[in-house]
Amino acid sequence: MRRTLIAGNWKMNGSLAGNAKLLGGIKVDPTRYAACDLLVCAPAPYLAQCQAELAGTAVAWGAQDVSEHEAGAYTGDVAASMLAEFGCSYVIVGHSERRAYQGESSEAVARKAVCALRAGLTPIVCVGETLAERQAERTDAVVGQQLDVVLQALDVADVARIVVAYEPLWAIGTGVTATPEMAQAVHQMLRAKIAAKSAEAAAKARILYGGSMKPDNAGQLLAMPDIDGGLIGGASLKAEDFLAIAQAAQAVQAAA
Ligand code: 13P
Repeated sequence: MRRTLIAGNWKMNGSLAGNAKLLGGIKVDPTRYAACDLLVCAPAPYLAQCQAELAGTAVAWGAQDVSEHEAGAYTGDVAASMLAEFGCSYVIVGHSERRAYQGESSEAVARKAVCALRAGLTPIVCVGETLAERQAERTDAVVGQQLDVVLQALDVADVARIVVAYEPLWAIGTGVTATPEMAQAVHQMLRAKIAAKSAEAAAKARILYGGSMKPDNAGQLLAMPDIDGGLIGGASLKAEDFLAIAQAAQAVQAAA
């Protein structure tokens, strides 16, 4: 059985004092959420704070972006090797906000995933459709293509090392969530794409749902067979809500 991954994406939020409080609230007794992996993805300036505050705890930490280059004249970029050097374990690549505001193409996202993997990091590859694309019944085509471009760039051995996050754009930060059935259908399609490359990888790869996941809807979403965790924005900024989602995940695992 795949371990559930409950990942917070703080986006561009935080302060030293606020983060200390939030991290203090989520550093937990590992036995309480033993069936889950907990992760926070913080803005780059706060990664050192996460490293210090989370050392020796059950909570992992990750970055929200990484350069598609290994090193060199790329002012402002952060290389995967730099993240890996001081203990970062995950990095989000291709979040829809970066695709929309920074014009990141799926090809660039694929190069970022490759850089992350080479440095030993786990890339969380985000895919998702707009409302217009869903209404035009293009969800599978759009989301499938976003994943295909990344899969094509990876060696078969690396496919099992990625995490995929399905985040419908119309559900992000809106309070509107995909129904468990809608999300499951897309997750199943994404897993079939992975299986076409490697059946073994498809059985192992975790596919997260993101988009207004909250304590009150997490249990139903996480109970779906192909939903292996959550990538959580707003609710990850409150320790209580983040842990309530972890609790829901733990309950789903215990019932399985
Ligand atoms: P919300 O949980 O705030 O909808 O954000 C989802 C998201 O974009 C996580 O990456």
